[in-house]
Amino acid sequence: MCGIVGYVGPQDARDVILEGLRRLEYRGYDSAGIAVVADGLLSSVKKAGKLANLEKVLAEHPLPAATVGIGHTRWATHGGPTDRNAHPHVSADGSVAVIHNGIIENFAALRAECEAQGVEFRSETDTEVAAHLLAAAYADTPEGPGRLAEAMRVISRRLEGAFTLVATAATEPDTLVAARRSSPLVVGVGDGEYFLGSDVAAFIAHTREARELGQDQVVEIDRHRGLTVTDFFGAAVEPKAYTVDWDAAAAEKGGYDWFMLKEIAEQPQAIADTLLGRLGSQGELVLDEVRLSDQELRDIDKIFVVACGTAFHAGMIAKYAIEHWTRIPVEVELASEFRYRDPVLDRSTLVVVISQSGETMDTLMALRHAKDQKARVLAICNANGSTIPRESDAVLYTHAGPEVAVASTKGFLTQLVACYLVGLFLAQVRGVKYEDEVSAVVDDLRRLPEAVAEVLAAMEPVRELARSLADADTILFLGRHVGYPVALEGALKLKELAYIHAEGFAAGELKHGPIAVVDQGTPVIVIVPSPRSRESVHGKVVSNIQEVRARGARTIVIAEEGDEDVVPYADHLIRVPRTPTLLAPVVTTVPLQVLACEIAATRGLDVDQPRNLAKSVTVE
Ligand code: M6R
Repeated sequence: MCGIVGYVGPQDARDVILEGLRRLEYRGYDSAGIAVVADGLLSSVKKAGKLANLEKVLAEHPLPAATVGIGHTRWATHGGPTDRNAHPHVSADGSVAVIHNGIIENFAALRAECEAQGVEFRSETDTEVAAHLLAAAYADTPEGPGRLAEAMRVISRRLEGAFTLVATAATEPDTLVAARRSSPLVVGVGDGEYFLGSDVAAFIAHTREARELGQDQVVEIDRHRGLTVTDFFGAAVEPKAYTVDWDAAAAEKGGYDWFMLKEIAEQPQAIADTLLGRLGSQGELVLDEVRLSDQELRDIDKIFVVACGTAFHAGMIAKYAIEHWTRIPVEVELASEFRYRDPVLDRSTLVVVISQSGETMDTLMALRHAKDQKARVLAICNANGSTIPRESDAVLYTHAGPEVAVASTKGFLTQLVACYLVGLFLAQVRGVKYEDEVSAVVDDLRRLPEAVAEVLAAMEPVRELARSLADADTILFLGRHVGYPVALEGALKLKELAYIHAEGFAAGELKHGPIAVVDQGTPVIVIVPSPRSRESVHGKVVSNIQEVRARGARTIVIAEEGDEDVVPYADHLIRVPRTPTLLAPVVTTVPLQVLACEIAATRGLDVDQPRNLAKSVTVE
């Protein structure tokens, strides 16, 4: 949600900022803007729409070359996606420019205060208030080193809500200053140059050396004096250094039309990377990075899995596996609801938060609530060094590599695999499974990369099918047991990418109402459990296919190889390799990802950046 880039150094800041914005555009694409300092003046250009619009304006009216600059790509919250509301926001006196990610919750009162002092606002954003307040604080701060940083600390103490603010001043051509509370910000350290970014993608082409910023901290970057980090009151803080473990090539499209296609294709490798080093030679699990003692893990008597969107669907599937393997009760909660309903949590509760980006505000707030209630928090996360794993008691990284497309694909499959690892690890530590039972599942996990590769190799008929579904008004998804969350995930993918109405149902619920919407020709996609699944769920789902078909549905059936029972009732049959029931979502989800992607492409839509969305949702 909003991409932020800052640069100080010998290169032309205009190029570095634009390149960073290109890599961060997935975070928001309602508008974009850039500001540089040259010859004692701040110059800025901003434009509604995608980055390409800004680039066009810059080609016609270039900014002056500069060694310091800031850039922003926006996902609108306060004020529509217009030129005026785009960032940077320059103060009324032209002394400072500011970019912002987050929401300043007390902006209305602060705006009224500025207006009472005669400031005329030029936008409807909450951000503009920060520009005017910063200019006033800057004017009140004595000249000298650290002036802009001091002004930033003064205003940060007054702001409520979540914010990353980055500012530059007309009279300080070698300085950048930023403040961080709850919204993401990382520093890149190069050779005589520094970068700021919402995430490391902003500067990965230049350096892999990064510094983590904590809550309520202000960073000042001066080309000559280097990096200084303090809290909001000026006390010095030593930022944690780390090296980013992926390179620029990983964030490129690599010959694919869309990042999403590339990320779908990367799934076998991503799963292998999630498993890497975690499956021991004796068939046991080795999760050293779960920094909870065996005793703490044995004491757990209840688990909450908390997440949003696709990650929530991973959590729903995790419930089936973790309860089955550990016999610990598991509840799955939408992060945006969790803390508002006052859940019962204590020291023996484990809260597993799942987030690809590690920055989702709803999930972060749920995590903080859980910690306030003394629960243990384990994060399953992809983005190294992001806020959610940093604030958790333990973390299991998925190591899927950068996920750039807004629609999560490899993020989801690797979250599933990480959830299986957590469930199995708990079962191992608590001794509720015999060693050979654990090692049998470990063998099944080892086979997943190959199984996903097999599904991917057989996707041509799915692409053809997608072309025939591109004009559908509505598509329904049915599943049962772990197939139910897969149905929800299939529907979510289709909605967000193709803007087609789609709903996922638990197949058994169909007869309680939803079957009324099935009409002549309605496409219904059914995720069929294995015939080896428990208590004849398979037979019941096969009956559900017949029920919708009898009412005119066009049935699209996803079933494992060798399942002949579905053949008479499938208008289209998509085969997936035989996989143990609890792990089956890893293979059955893949055709649904491909289907949604291809339908969107056929409809001429932007697959990587669907309308109204952003990759990382950093507001509540
Ligand atoms: O980064 P997170 O995993 O916390 O993101 C959660 C959701 O916002 C995310 O999964 C969203 O639903 C995706 N766009 C779905 O494809």
